[in-house]
Amino acid sequence: MQVVRLGIIGLGNMGKGHINYLAKGEVSGVVISAVSDSVPESLKWAEEKLGDAVSRYASPYEMMDSGKIDAVLIATPHFSHPELAIAAFERGLHVLCEKPAGVYTKQVRQMNEAGSKANVKFSMMYNQRTNPLYVKLKELIDAGELGEVRRTNWIITNWYRSQSYYDSGTWRATWAGEGGGVLLNQDPHQLDLWQWTISMMPKRVRAFCYFGKHRDIEVEDDVTAFVEYENGATGVFVTTTGEAPGTNRLEISGDRGKIVIENNTLTFWRLRVSEKEFNQQFKGGFGGPECWKCEIPVGGPYPDHKGITQNFVNAILHDEPLIAPGEEGIKGLMLSNAMLLSTWTDNWVDLPIDEDLFYSYLQEKIENSTYQKEAQPQ
Ligand SMILES: NC(=O)c1ccc[n+]([C@@H]2O[C@H](COP(=O)([O-])OP(=O)(O)OC[C@H]3O[C@@H](n4cnc5c(N)ncnc54)[C@H](O)[C@@H]3O)[C@@H](O)[C@H]2O)c1
Repeated sequence: MQVVRLGIIGLGNMGKGHINYLAKGEVSGVVISAVSDSVPESLKWAEEKLGDAVSRYASPYEMMDSGKIDAVLIATPHFSHPELAIAAFERGLHVLCEKPAGVYTKQVRQMNEAGSKANVKFSMMYNQRTNPLYVKLKELIDAGELGEVRRTNWIITNWYRSQSYYDSGTWRATWAGEGGGVLLNQDPHQLDLWQWTISMMPKRVRAFCYFGKHRDIEVEDDVTAFVEYENGATGVFVTTTGEAPGTNRLEISGDRGKIVIENNTLTFWRLRVSEKEFNQQFKGGFGGPECWKCEIPVGGPYPDHKGITQNFVNAILHDEPLIAPGEEGIKGLMLSNAMLLSTWTDNWVDLPIDEDLFYSYLQEKIENSTYQKEAQPQ
């Protein structure tokens, strides 16, 4: 294969975003061959934007069966990601899937199983994995610069969303349409980076989610979670869409100091000797290890969505390793499912979570939902 023929499913905000850079030829080795959207106006938009050389389908399955594409980019609402990915795998098509991987881990596990059976490339659109700040953080931790991780703390409250945002789509912020709130829509990148950068998933989670606390919505818009890791480390994750001005601060402490990412800078407070070593040798009562504050230079390009798409294309054409392998999408989703489950059961939740229990709670929320809303034009 010389050029990947891509079919894009879902021509909403994100699908259009992908089309914008692809149509300008900013990713090499790929052409948009077809698009699909269930809404006629979106297909009309595609006709005007892309012309007749790009085939248009109301049904994604018809597009997948057309023989005109080698790969799909799934940019539809979350619930449909696993179902569409599985259909693509069954047809031998490569899959690039928008985040989150799905709404509940049970369906994402099925997607991963189908993906592992198909001889195709499968990537998640975790574009933040190309952000030089988090790439550098992972590199430092992988290299052992921070020593053993002891504490993680992410305050991510700068996802401000107004009521008019929630009112702009009937699927948004409903159990039936979206399956969750800030954890599922805004936070998937942070939940992925939280475990990806330290190469560690928590072993258990205790969380407090508040539903419709700041807005007239039925899903969670304010969350505080406490987690424990196998090695004894602990972590806190705080998030909301209802605060202004918000904060985005990730702090990771280890045996050799702490790293903070905030305001687009990465600061490493580096201990001259490890805390453990200092404690063994120091006999002076009060006192602490010598610490150097280092502003770590973080440069280089931030290829963002384009970078993940280019990597996906390169993986298909040249077997380049994937930055965000599709089967890793379940990890961040597991964390958000665990936070909701902990709130619903008012208890600790061990990981991996009881997928059937989460699924039954979610179904109950969907069935008992009395939430009605009319879509407002934006
Ligand atoms: N990676 C990122 O930074 C990022 C940013 C925004 C959104 N997203 C993700 O992208 C996905 C879409 O979000 P959005 O904001 O573009 O939503 P949107 O509502 O603007 O667009 C969704 C589109 O999908 C179409 N659609 C729905 N079901 C379909 C189906 N079965 N077949 C064909 N078309 C279908 C709808 O008609 C609509 O045009 C979400 O899962 C979201 O989390 C990712």
